[in-house]
Amino acid sequence: MTRLQEFSSEDDQGKLDFLEHADLKARGFNIVGAFEKVKTVEQMRTRIKELKDLTDNNPYERKFYWVLEDDRPIGVTTLRPALNEFWLHNAGHIGIAIDKPLRGHGHGTEAFKKMCEIAKNEYGIKEIIIMALPDNTASRSMIEKSGGEYWDTVVAADGEKLARYRIRI
Ligand SMILES: CC(C)(COP(=O)(O)OP(=O)(O)OC[C@H]1O[C@@H](n2cnc3c(N)ncnc32)[C@H](O)[C@@H]1OP(=O)(O)O)[C@@H](O)C(=O)NCCC(=O)NCCS
Repeated sequence: MTRLQEFSSEDDQGKLDFLEHADLKARGFNIVGAFEKVKTVEQMRTRIKELKDLTDNNPYERKFYWVLEDDRPIGVTTLRPALNEFWLHNAGHIGIAIDKPLRGHGHGTEAFKKMCEIAKNEYGIKEIIIMALPDNTASRSMIEKSGGEYWDTVVAADGEKLARYRIRI
């Protein structure tokens, strides 16, 4: 069963191993780029605490969740509880990546739907904004299977076009 668990300052070596070895990148973007310099469990826990302090005080910052399958990490998903003008055009509420060898088994769609439930139940979000690179068929299919309605295509700050979707939950 796929479930989500927020990053915690008690996360252990198994989680660090996953951060070090999983392939979570999409076109050079690494969802866990904030952990790139982390080498030990202590450093990982410190970084998690720093990020938690940041998100507790700023709703535009991302909260991180493990995607777990039978208690083993298989991916990471993020939630930005609020959007300002910049994030409305550059990222949206939710980010997600599944370790490359484990894609294509339905975990991404299941985890994404669970992230939408957390957005609704814990943060009172009624309409999720989510974006995908226009040629990212896996992402677009995951979004559409989760109730995403195509909204429009915007040009992000880095010049990339992004297909924008809305999900009324
Ligand atoms: C997008 C992503 C999270 C989906 O995870 P996943 O576990 O593969 O998702 P699912 O198995 O639920 O599949 C969702 C869709 O992806 C497509 N897909 C899965 N694996 C694929 C592959 N290897 N090649 C092409 N499409 C693929 C399928 O078409 C599927 O839709 P379908 O059931 O209608 O055929 C995953 O591809 C990923 O981590 N990509 C890199 C990061 C990224 O692009 N994130 C999206 C940012 S919004």
